[in-house]
Amino acid sequence: MEEFVAMQQRTNAPSINAAFGGSNEVEPAREKTIMANRIDEIERVFGNIDREVWIVTAADNNREGGLVATWVSQASIDREYPVVLAGIAPNHFTAELIDASGAFGLHLITENQIHHAWNFAIGSGRDRNKLADVGTFVAETGSPILSECLAWLDCRVFTAHRTGDRIFYWADVVAGGTKSPGTPLTESQLIRRASDEQKRELRSGRDADIDIQRPRQQACRSLLPNPMQPE
Ligand SMILES: Cc1cc2nc3c(=O)[nH]c(=O)nc-3n(C[C@H](O)[C@H](O)[C@H](O)COP(=O)(O)O)c2cc1C
Repeated sequence: MEEFVAMQQRTNAPSINAAFGGSNEVEPAREKTIMANRIDEIERVFGNIDREVWIVTAADNNREGGLVATWVSQASIDREYPVVLAGIAPNHFTAELIDASGAFGLHLITENQIHHAWNFAIGSGRDRNKLADVGTFVAETGSPILSECLAWLDCRVFTAHRTGDRIFYWADVVAGGTKSPGTPLTESQLIRRASDEQKRELRSGRDADIDIQRPRQQACRSLLPNPMQPE
Protein backbone atom coordinates (compact mmCIF):
# COMPACT_ATOMS: atom_id res chain seq x y z
CA MET A 1 0.00 0.00 0.00
CA GLU A 2 2.80 2.44 0.95
CA GLU A 3 4.50 1.56 -2.28
CA PHE A 4 1.27 2.19 -4.19
CA VAL A 5 0.85 5.62 -2.61
CA ALA A 6 4.50 6.51 -3.26
CA MET A 7 4.14 5.40 -6.86
CA GLN A 8 0.99 7.46 -7.30
CA GLN A 9 2.87 10.54 -6.14
CA ARG A 10 5.61 9.93 -8.69
CA THR A 11 3.38 9.16 -11.66
CA ASN A 12 -0.17 9.73 -12.89
CA ALA A 13 -1.10 6.07 -13.14
CA PRO A 14 0.78 3.40 -11.23
CA SER A 15 1.63 0.29 -13.20
CA ILE A 16 0.03 -2.87 -11.92
CA ASN A 17 3.41 -4.27 -10.89
CA ALA A 18 4.28 -1.24 -8.83
CA ALA A 19 0.86 -0.98 -7.27
CA PHE A 20 0.58 -4.63 -6.30
CA GLY A 21 3.94 -4.77 -4.64
CA GLY A 22 7.31 -4.56 -6.27
CA SER A 23 8.77 -6.69 -8.98
CA ASN A 24 10.24 -10.14 -8.78
CA GLU A 25 14.00 -10.45 -8.84
CA VAL A 26 15.69 -10.28 -12.19
CA GLU A 27 16.34 -13.80 -13.41
CA PRO A 28 19.96 -14.69 -14.27
CA ALA A 29 19.23 -15.12 -17.99
CA ARG A 30 18.36 -11.43 -18.45
CA GLU A 31 20.77 -9.90 -15.92
CA LYS A 32 23.08 -8.91 -18.72
CA THR A 33 20.44 -6.84 -20.52
CA ILE A 34 18.20 -5.45 -17.77
CA MET A 35 20.06 -4.65 -14.56
CA ALA A 36 18.09 -4.54 -11.34
CA ASN A 37 18.79 -0.84 -10.75
CA ARG A 38 17.10 0.04 -14.04
CA ILE A 39 13.86 -1.76 -13.20
CA ASP A 40 12.41 1.11 -11.15
CA GLU A 41 13.07 3.58 -13.97
CA ILE A 42 11.49 1.27 -16.54
CA GLU A 43 8.50 0.66 -14.31
CA ARG A 44 8.07 4.42 -13.88
CA VAL A 45 7.80 4.79 -17.65
CA PHE A 46 5.06 2.14 -17.77
CA GLY A 47 3.39 4.00 -14.89
CA ASN A 48 2.39 6.71 -17.35
CA ILE A 49 0.04 4.27 -19.06
CA ASP A 50 -3.46 3.64 -17.74
CA ARG A 51 -5.08 0.83 -19.68
CA GLU A 52 -8.75 -0.11 -19.87
CA VAL A 53 -9.85 -3.14 -17.92
CA TRP A 54 -11.49 -5.70 -20.23
CA ILE A 55 -13.53 -8.73 -19.21
CA VAL A 56 -12.86 -11.62 -21.58
CA THR A 57 -15.42 -14.43 -21.61
CA ALA A 58 -15.56 -17.75 -23.46
CA ALA A 59 -17.47 -21.04 -23.45
CA ASP A 60 -17.04 -24.54 -24.76
CA ASN A 61 -20.08 -26.87 -24.55
CA ASN A 62 -20.99 -26.88 -20.85
CA ARG A 63 -17.78 -25.13 -19.70
CA GLU A 64 -17.69 -21.34 -19.38
CA GLY A 65 -15.51 -18.72 -17.78
CA GLY A 66 -13.60 -15.51 -18.14
CA LEU A 67 -10.86 -13.25 -16.88
CA VAL A 68 -9.76 -9.65 -16.59
CA ALA A 69 -7.30 -8.52 -19.26
CA THR A 70 -5.52 -5.31 -20.08
CA TRP A 71 -3.67 -6.82 -23.01
CA VAL A 72 -6.51 -6.17 -25.46
CA SER A 73 -6.27 -3.88 -28.42
CA GLN A 74 -8.21 -2.71 -31.43
CA ALA A 75 -6.08 -4.08 -34.28
CA SER A 76 -7.52 -2.83 -37.56
CA ILE A 77 -7.92 0.60 -39.15
CA ASP A 78 -10.50 -0.78 -41.59
CA ARG A 79 -13.95 -0.10 -40.12
CA GLU A 80 -15.50 -2.76 -42.39
CA TYR A 81 -13.12 -5.43 -41.05
CA PRO A 82 -12.85 -4.76 -37.30
CA VAL A 83 -10.15 -6.86 -35.63
CA VAL A 84 -8.92 -7.18 -32.04
CA LEU A 85 -5.77 -8.65 -30.54
CA ALA A 86 -5.90 -10.25 -27.08
CA GLY A 87 -2.88 -11.59 -25.16
CA ILE A 88 -4.01 -14.37 -22.85
CA ALA A 89 -1.77 -16.56 -20.67
CA PRO A 90 -1.90 -20.23 -21.68
CA ASN A 91 -2.13 -21.38 -18.05
CA HIS A 92 -5.43 -19.53 -17.63
CA PHE A 93 -8.66 -21.51 -17.89
CA THR A 94 -10.07 -18.91 -20.28
CA ALA A 95 -7.30 -19.71 -22.82
CA GLU A 96 -8.42 -23.34 -22.75
CA LEU A 97 -11.99 -22.24 -23.54
CA ILE A 98 -10.89 -19.89 -26.35
CA ASP A 99 -8.67 -22.60 -27.88
CA ALA A 100 -11.61 -25.03 -27.81
CA SER A 101 -14.29 -22.66 -29.09
CA GLY A 102 -12.27 -20.35 -31.36
CA ALA A 103 -14.21 -17.39 -29.97
CA PHE A 104 -14.45 -14.97 -27.07
CA GLY A 105 -16.48 -12.05 -25.79
CA LEU A 106 -14.94 -8.72 -24.75
CA HIS A 107 -16.47 -6.24 -22.33
CA LEU A 108 -15.71 -2.78 -21.05
CA ILE A 109 -17.22 -1.98 -17.66
CA THR A 110 -17.75 1.23 -15.72
CA GLU A 111 -16.40 1.96 -12.25
CA ASN A 112 -19.91 1.18 -10.92
CA GLN A 113 -19.64 -2.31 -12.43
CA ILE A 114 -16.29 -3.02 -10.74
CA HIS A 115 -17.71 -6.14 -9.02
CA HIS A 116 -17.25 -7.93 -12.37
CA ALA A 117 -13.53 -7.19 -12.22
CA TRP A 118 -13.13 -8.82 -8.79
CA ASN A 119 -15.17 -11.83 -9.92
CA PHE A 120 -13.12 -12.41 -13.06
CA ALA A 121 -9.63 -11.34 -11.89
CA ILE A 122 -9.42 -13.45 -8.76
CA GLY A 123 -9.13 -17.25 -8.81
CA SER A 124 -9.46 -19.72 -11.64
CA GLY A 125 -12.48 -20.85 -13.60
CA ARG A 126 -11.15 -24.38 -13.06
CA ASP A 127 -12.20 -24.08 -9.38
CA ARG A 128 -15.52 -22.26 -9.75
CA ASN A 129 -17.86 -21.17 -12.52
CA LYS A 130 -17.25 -17.41 -12.62
CA LEU A 131 -20.44 -16.98 -14.67
CA ALA A 132 -22.69 -18.91 -12.26
CA ASP A 133 -24.25 -15.78 -10.71
CA VAL A 134 -23.80 -13.43 -13.65
CA GLY A 135 -26.55 -12.59 -16.15
CA THR A 136 -25.47 -13.42 -19.71
CA PHE A 137 -26.80 -14.00 -23.20
CA VAL A 138 -25.27 -16.12 -25.94
CA ALA A 139 -23.71 -14.24 -28.84
CA GLU A 140 -23.47 -15.34 -32.48
CA THR A 141 -20.12 -17.11 -31.91
CA GLY A 142 -21.51 -18.97 -28.87
CA SER A 143 -19.58 -16.81 -26.40
CA PRO A 144 -21.39 -15.67 -23.26
CA ILE A 145 -21.93 -11.90 -23.11
CA LEU A 146 -22.48 -10.08 -19.81
CA SER A 147 -25.93 -8.50 -19.64
CA GLU A 148 -24.55 -5.74 -17.41
CA CYS A 149 -21.56 -3.92 -18.88
CA LEU A 150 -20.64 -0.66 -20.57
CA ALA A 151 -20.12 -2.26 -23.97
CA TRP A 152 -19.37 -5.67 -25.52
CA LEU A 153 -17.82 -7.24 -28.62
CA ASP A 154 -18.30 -10.75 -30.00
CA CYS A 155 -15.03 -12.04 -31.48
CA ARG A 156 -14.09 -15.02 -33.67
CA VAL A 157 -10.42 -16.06 -33.67
CA PHE A 158 -8.77 -16.32 -37.09
CA THR A 159 -5.19 -16.94 -35.95
CA ALA A 160 -3.17 -17.33 -32.76
CA HIS A 161 0.51 -16.73 -32.06
CA ARG A 162 2.03 -18.56 -29.08
CA THR A 163 5.04 -17.02 -27.31
CA GLY A 164 5.30 -19.31 -24.28
CA ASP A 165 3.90 -16.94 -21.67
CA ARG A 166 1.07 -15.61 -23.85
CA ILE A 167 -1.21 -16.65 -26.67
CA PHE A 168 -1.99 -13.73 -28.94
CA TYR A 169 -5.41 -14.23 -30.44
CA TRP A 170 -6.23 -12.21 -33.55
CA ALA A 171 -9.98 -12.14 -33.93
CA ASP A 172 -12.65 -10.70 -36.20
CA VAL A 173 -15.24 -8.67 -34.35
CA VAL A 174 -18.57 -9.97 -35.64
CA ALA A 175 -20.94 -8.00 -33.40
CA GLY A 176 -20.98 -5.46 -30.61
CA GLY A 177 -23.19 -3.22 -28.56
CA THR A 178 -23.33 -0.50 -25.94
CA LYS A 179 -25.37 -1.29 -22.85
CA SER A 180 -24.93 1.57 -20.44
CA PRO A 181 -23.58 5.11 -20.43
CA GLY A 182 -20.26 5.90 -18.76
CA THR A 183 -16.54 5.64 -19.27
CA PRO A 184 -14.44 2.47 -19.19
CA LEU A 185 -12.89 1.36 -15.90
CA THR A 186 -9.10 1.65 -16.02
CA GLU A 187 -6.32 -0.22 -14.27
CA SER A 188 -5.50 2.67 -11.92
CA GLN A 189 -9.16 2.99 -10.85
CA LEU A 190 -9.25 -0.75 -10.21
CA ILE A 191 -6.17 -0.56 -8.00
CA ARG A 192 -7.42 2.54 -6.21
CA ARG A 193 -10.68 0.77 -5.34
CA ALA A 194 -9.06 -2.52 -4.20
CA SER A 195 -9.21 -3.42 -0.51
CA ASP A 196 -6.00 -4.66 1.12
CA GLU A 197 -7.35 -8.20 0.88
CA GLN A 198 -8.14 -7.81 -2.83
CA LYS A 199 -4.65 -6.37 -3.41
CA ARG A 200 -3.16 -9.40 -1.63
CA GLU A 201 -5.18 -11.78 -3.82
CA LEU A 202 -4.27 -9.98 -7.03
CA ARG A 203 -0.60 -9.92 -6.05
CA SER A 204 -0.51 -13.61 -5.21
CA GLY A 205 -2.26 -14.44 -8.52
CA ARG A 206 0.25 -12.30 -10.40
CA ASP A 207 3.26 -13.85 -8.62
CA ALA A 208 1.97 -17.39 -9.25
CA ASP A 209 1.49 -16.48 -12.93
CA ILE A 210 5.06 -15.14 -13.20
CA ASP A 211 6.44 -18.36 -11.67
CA ILE A 212 4.62 -20.40 -14.31
CA GLN A 213 5.04 -18.05 -17.27
CA ARG A 214 8.68 -16.93 -16.98
CA PRO A 215 10.23 -20.36 -17.72
CA ARG A 216 7.71 -20.91 -20.52
CA GLN A 217 8.70 -17.64 -22.14
CA GLN A 218 12.39 -18.41 -21.79
CA ALA A 219 11.91 -21.88 -23.29
CA CYS A 220 10.05 -20.34 -26.21
CA ARG A 221 12.81 -17.72 -26.74
CA SER A 222 15.52 -20.36 -26.68
CA LEU A 223 13.90 -21.98 -29.72
CA LEU A 224 13.91 -18.75 -31.76
CA PRO A 225 16.60 -18.26 -34.37
CA ASN A 226 19.00 -15.48 -33.39
CA PRO A 227 18.95 -12.96 -36.23
CA MET A 228 22.29 -11.41 -35.09
CA GLN A 229 24.11 -14.73 -35.17
CA PRO A 230 26.50 -15.19 -38.13
CA GLU A 231 25.48 -18.07 -40.42
C1 LIG B 1 -5.43 -5.53 -14.07
C2 LIG B 1 -5.25 -6.97 -14.53
C3 LIG B 1 -4.92 -7.21 -15.85
C4 LIG B 1 -4.77 -8.53 -16.31
N1 LIG B 1 -4.46 -8.74 -17.62
C5 LIG B 1 -4.38 -10.00 -18.10
C6 LIG B 1 -4.14 -10.23 -19.50
O1 LIG B 1 -4.04 -9.29 -20.29
N2 LIG B 1 -4.06 -11.51 -19.91
C7 LIG B 1 -4.20 -12.57 -19.05
O2 LIG B 1 -4.11 -13.74 -19.49
N3 LIG B 1 -4.44 -12.39 -17.72
C8 LIG B 1 -4.54 -11.14 -17.24
N4 LIG B 1 -4.81 -10.93 -15.90
C9 LIG B 1 -4.91 -12.08 -14.98
C10 LIG B 1 -6.25 -12.83 -15.04
O3 LIG B 1 -7.35 -11.96 -15.07
C11 LIG B 1 -6.41 -13.75 -13.81
O4 LIG B 1 -5.26 -14.52 -13.61
C12 LIG B 1 -7.62 -14.65 -13.89
O5 LIG B 1 -7.97 -15.08 -12.60
C13 LIG B 1 -7.44 -15.89 -14.77
O6 LIG B 1 -8.66 -16.59 -14.76
P1 LIG B 1 -8.94 -18.00 -15.44
O7 LIG B 1 -7.84 -18.96 -15.02
O8 LIG B 1 -10.28 -18.41 -14.88
O9 LIG B 1 -8.97 -17.82 -16.91
C14 LIG B 1 -4.97 -9.63 -15.41
C15 LIG B 1 -5.32 -9.36 -14.09
C16 LIG B 1 -5.46 -8.06 -13.64
C17 LIG B 1 -5.83 -7.80 -12.22
